[in-house]
Amino acid sequence: MNVLVTGGAGYIGSHTCVELLNAGHRVLVIDNLCRSNPEALNRVRKITGKELLFRRIDLLDYDPLLAALREFSPDAVVHFAALKAVGESVRMPLTYYENNLAGTLNLCRAMSAVNCKNLVFSSSCTVYGNPARVPVTEASPTQNAECPYGRTKLFVEEILRDAAAADAAWHIALLRYFNPVGAHPSGLLGEDPRGTPNNLLPYIALVAAGKLPELSVFGNDYPTPDGTCIRDYLHVVDLAKGHLAALDGLPRFAGARAWNFGTGAGVSVLEVIAAFASVSGKKIPYKIAPRRAGDVVATYADPTRAREELNWSAELPLAQMCADAWRWQTQNPDGY
Ligand code: NAD
Ligand code: UD1
Repeated sequence: MNVLVTGGAGYIGSHTCVELLNAGHRVLVIDNLCRSNPEALNRVRKITGKELLFRRIDLLDYDPLLAALREFSPDAVVHFAALKAVGESVRMPLTYYENNLAGTLNLCRAMSAVNCKNLVFSSSCTVYGNPARVPVTEASPTQNAECPYGRTKLFVEEILRDAAAADAAWHIALLRYFNPVGAHPSGLLGEDPRGTPNNLLPYIALVAAGKLPELSVFGNDYPTPDGTCIRDYLHVVDLAKGHLAALDGLPRFAGARAWNFGTGAGVSVLEVIAAFASVSGKKIPYKIAPRRAGDVVATYADPTRAREELNWSAELPLAQMCADAWRWQTQNPDGY
């Protein structure tokens, strides 16, 4: 298939390009590189030994986007391109709404113009907010997210559902990722956040490498077994493979349908620290800090629907997530 990957130079997109190319697909990445480094694309080429097409285009620029789609003639689109920093979205809500909503609308308009209506969209477990019950199924209620970034995911899901309801030609997968972590086992691809990371795994990796003095654990007085928050961490390579499963499954599901992408296991912050210390052999100094505003107490997936309908399950254990994140950190101490 010809697969267009928006945001393919980013963290999850680059790992997904590896899996798409290895499965024999022809891949065009469209990315404006506002949050990524083109070296990631070279690394994808190096890992796979295959050709990867790339156009530096902003999804907000409709004419070049349409021209690229006309030329490439995609069979399906995997749409990663978005801004995703929670704090930044609170400070710059209009930028987030414009980028994530208008970018998606332009993409759908261009797809319609070339008659490609197979779309895999990167949604997030953030649509469930602080769930009343765990594990979370796709039938669990979505909630008003705590920040503009989270609301862009909710709004785009609704927009895509409306589009699919109005036109039966659309096949749309709404993939609700839980917490993707880790890196490619080659050590060539990984998460390359700008500045001090906000997310747990990249922060721990920098502490283990001695680049940050200690980790702040945001709260140890939550109603969980060890008092710290619970998440469902999944290996980015498992997640990347899930996109192939979604593309394979799309023809079987008309309309827009949501799938949870997680392992189904809830893991606490202290458990992640212990796992990372164990595989890296490094001490991870940490202190207990106040709770982070807006944090969800506990969320993890019920991944049954993805297993039954898409034949996809996450397989790699937490130790592998930590080992691969650590390899990426040690082989690329300054990122790409
Ligand atoms: P990332 O920031 O590494 O990648 C996003 C890519 O999109 C970047 O390469 C960026 O340059 C590009 N981009 C952004 N706006 C663009 C635009 N207007 N035009 C063209 N390119 C643009 O992020 P990621 O972690 O790989 O996340 C990919 C997707 O998955 C995002 O939609 C994100 O919201 C979603 N998601 C991520 C996580 C996570 O924890 N990483 C969790 C749930 C959902
Ligand atoms: C992040 C995103 C959220 C997204 C979700 C899914 C933020 C603020 N939120 O949240 O929008 O939907 O990923 O991928 O980025 N922690 C610490 N110390 C740290 C960093 C984190 O104790 O320095 C704790 C947090 O309190 C949380 C856990 O580690 O309990 C995981 O944090 P993080 O990696 O930011 O993920 P989410 O909170 O799930």
